[in-house]
Amino acid sequence: MNVHDTEKIAGVLRGEGYAFTDRPEDAALIILNTCSIREKAEHKFLSRLGYFRRLKRKRPGLQIVVSGCIAQQEGEKFLIDNKDVDFTFGPQNIVKLPELILRDKRKAAVEENPALAETDLPAIRNDGTRAWVNIMYGCNNFCSYCVVPHTRGRERSRPTDSILNEIKTLSDEGYKEVTLLGQNVNSYRDPKNVTASFAQLLKSVNAIQGIERVRFITSHPKDLSPELICAIRDLEKVCEHIHLPLQSGSSRILSLMNRKYSYAQYLDKITELRRHIPGISITSDIITGFPTETGDDHEETLAALKEIEFDGIFAFKYSKRRYTRASEMEGQLGEDIKSDRLKTILELQDVITDKINRRLKGQTTEIIVEGESSSDTNHWTGRTRTNKIVNFTPDEKINKGMLITVSITNSFRHSLEGRPD
Ligand code: 5AD
Ligand code: SF4
Repeated sequence: MNVHDTEKIAGVLRGEGYAFTDRPEDAALIILNTCSIREKAEHKFLSRLGYFRRLKRKRPGLQIVVSGCIAQQEGEKFLIDNKDVDFTFGPQNIVKLPELILRDKRKAAVEENPALAETDLPAIRNDGTRAWVNIMYGCNNFCSYCVVPHTRGRERSRPTDSILNEIKTLSDEGYKEVTLLGQNVNSYRDPKNVTASFAQLLKSVNAIQGIERVRFITSHPKDLSPELICAIRDLEKVCEHIHLPLQSGSSRILSLMNRKYSYAQYLDKITELRRHIPGISITSDIITGFPTETGDDHEETLAALKEIEFDGIFAFKYSKRRYTRASEMEGQLGEDIKSDRLKTILELQDVITDKINRRLKGQTTEIIVEGESSSDTNHWTGRTRTNKIVNFTPDEKINKGMLITVSITNSFRHSLEGRPD
């Protein structure tokens, strides 16, 4: 979501006549688009800001701007504490950037923007093959650990006709793959026709000529409907991959997290997905060390990983976030225990991912070519419909964006090796 916000910030700036440089030392304006999902992201931002602050001391005309979730969360206070930052704006206020740049007064543009979903902004996308497309903004779920509903505001769906127009334009420009973006895509409802669900949106996107693959992220297990499962199964461009965050294998912890499902209910969804869509790849997010998590809760997460066998996971140490209910809970755990548990989780998942990927050896699969591999000049990389990276050496001339068939010849933990057929 943040990467795509940055593409829009760049699009708005280009409209104002700005050009881009890779060298911060040459820039007249630097925008740091920030994330506050975990403390680590905030630390990264602060160290970058320190560097740019030193640049500004040498060149006082430089404008430094902070956008994104940290800007939103800190509001006016951030400008009071950081005298060398010119202005800030939150994720709902990218549209205000042109007027903020011209205004002399320092301002934090952090107000709710009720028109967000109806305002289409230009984006600069560098890939040429794969594009992110917003279908909704904000989140209403209030998982007890999560800052997103506090920074991105209430959930608002974007009208279906503007989504489809954007994707048609992308197709005309040669894009082959779109990823529909939202904090909770399965609760999408067309604001102009509230009976139109996410599955129906998928159907309309599937019909757009030129687009070969459709992905979406992120899905909330509680809203994963049978209608959506059938849509993934039946729509030929919708890829056989779902990212379905579990967060914990302990139903007690899930309830404290306000996830609105038990482990058993989550498992039922996985069973349904696999029953209807054989070969679907399923990835997930896990948080370890949530307040009060016991050794037994942790064991339940490990047992869940073994039982489900995800294709891959992102696992994070619980990070205490401002404004959230979990930050006020008793039973906050120490860093050491969180780190130990994270290590066990990642080691177990590595074994599982390795086992799953080994099963793919010998299979023939379609990939979209993504480009030359950065590490090896003879190698190119592509991605399967199930979102796995395949490295291969082409036997004839190929281009980025081409769809080709490869046989999987070898598997590694984070990638596969293939041979063009
Ligand atoms: N601490 C750790 N992980 C978090 N996530 C969200 N908030 C936190 C937090 N406070 C994780 C969740 C979510 C992913 C995007 O980030 O697993 O699915
Ligand atoms: Fe955060 Fe939960 Fe919303 Fe995801 S669904 S953005 S974890 S509050």
